Amino acid sequence: MSKHPDLIAPHGGQLINRIATPAERQEFLAQADKLPRVQLDERATSDLVMIAIGGFSPLNGFMEQADYEKVVDDMRLVNGTVWSIPITLSVTEEVAEPLKEGSWVRLDDPTGNFVGVLELTHKYKYSKAHEAVNVYGTDETAHPGVKVVYDQGPINLAGPVWLLEREPHPLFPKYQIDPAQSRAMFKEKGWQTVVGFQTRNPIHRAHEYIQKCALEVVDGLFLHPLVGATKSDDIPADVRMRCYEIMVDKYFPPERVILAINPAAMRYAGPREAIFHAIVRKNYGCTHFIVGRDHAGVGDYYGTYDAQIIFDEFEPEELGIVPMKFEHAFYCTRTEQMATTKTSPSTKEERVHLSGTKVREMLRSGQLPPPQFSRPEVAAELAKAMQIQ
Ligand code: ADX
Repeated sequence: MSKHPDLIAPHGGQLINRIATPAERQEFLAQADKLPRVQLDERATSDLVMIAIGGFSPLNGFMEQADYEKVVDDMRLVNGTVWSIPITLSVTEEVAEPLKEGSWVRLDDPTGNFVGVLELTHKYKYSKAHEAVNVYGTDETAHPGVKVVYDQGPINLAGPVWLLEREPHPLFPKYQIDPAQSRAMFKEKGWQTVVGFQTRNPIHRAHEYIQKCALEVVDGLFLHPLVGATKSDDIPADVRMRCYEIMVDKYFPPERVILAINPAAMRYAGPREAIFHAIVRKNYGCTHFIVGRDHAGVGDYYGTYDAQIIFDEFEPEELGIVPMKFEHAFYCTRTEQMATTKTSPSTKEERVHLSGTKVREMLRSGQLPPPQFSRPEVAAELAKAMQIQ
């Protein structure tokens, strides 16, 4: 791997840009009323954005059948590039039927706004059960990622896409930092090594601990909370972002940290999503990526460290980003600090660790999580948000 951030190649070698040029945009707008329409759900809308801004490089559109099948079966694209999650546009038979291969399709967001164009190259059927079992490790629809697969249509529409326009995020414009920008920022800061952090939960002390352990050995920390679709009982993105703002202001050296949003949707695919999350952060210019306990997991579907073990299935150079693996972190009352079993001799009784579910229960019943679990300012922010709910 290169020591110079500007030389850290995006996945597959080239940062994809599928944002329509002004001329393309004009042409698409001129045809807007004549084109057949497909309405995207929230996840497909964010996938369109991620493809367009290069976050999903080397993908330039929704997956063709051969790539899709290879990804589901072997975690690779047909050309051998590592890719662990299918990126598909799935529609009903009724929607697919009138669409002609070789033609343009207008893509609307869930509110009916014209947001992109698909050059439809191919329509194909796929097996939901096969995708569920291979990608998520289960076909139970109690799994939120599997439920999405079973709820969506049986036909995938494939082909390159264009995003009509890159608009500022309605809630977090300041934190909308796309891969080309983050790469430029890392370069400007002279960071040779940058660790990316994925999260869908409010920041707690264990997060802070592993972020800072990682930051002790690299130049910069790219805090990259996911703000796309999450399951309904996860804490909303605006609340999580406020907690991050509080933390960055008070508990982090600002010159070492960049806070930015990741517009993607959660899949809850555990190990396979950890690989995917790492590749996306590589596209943003990160050289390292944090993988802690049960990364991108849900319920008891995955083993605590499955999302770390999966990295061993690939050669370091085919991933091109280094996973930084952390054990389950907790507050140790004996040593009075955050730790893991690697660094603390504590007994179980001497460890403070709470699950997200437990914290939500505490907040709902008006209790604040203890300072060993959450910084007080963050606990207060969460309590405020839960009362408003
Ligand atoms: S995730 O779905 O985005 O993985 P979360 O926001 O909770 O969920 O986790 C963000 C990152 O922190 C993941 O890499 C996860 O493995 C890690 N993590 C969360 N809690 C702990 C903990 N107590 N100890 C170690 N790692 C943790």
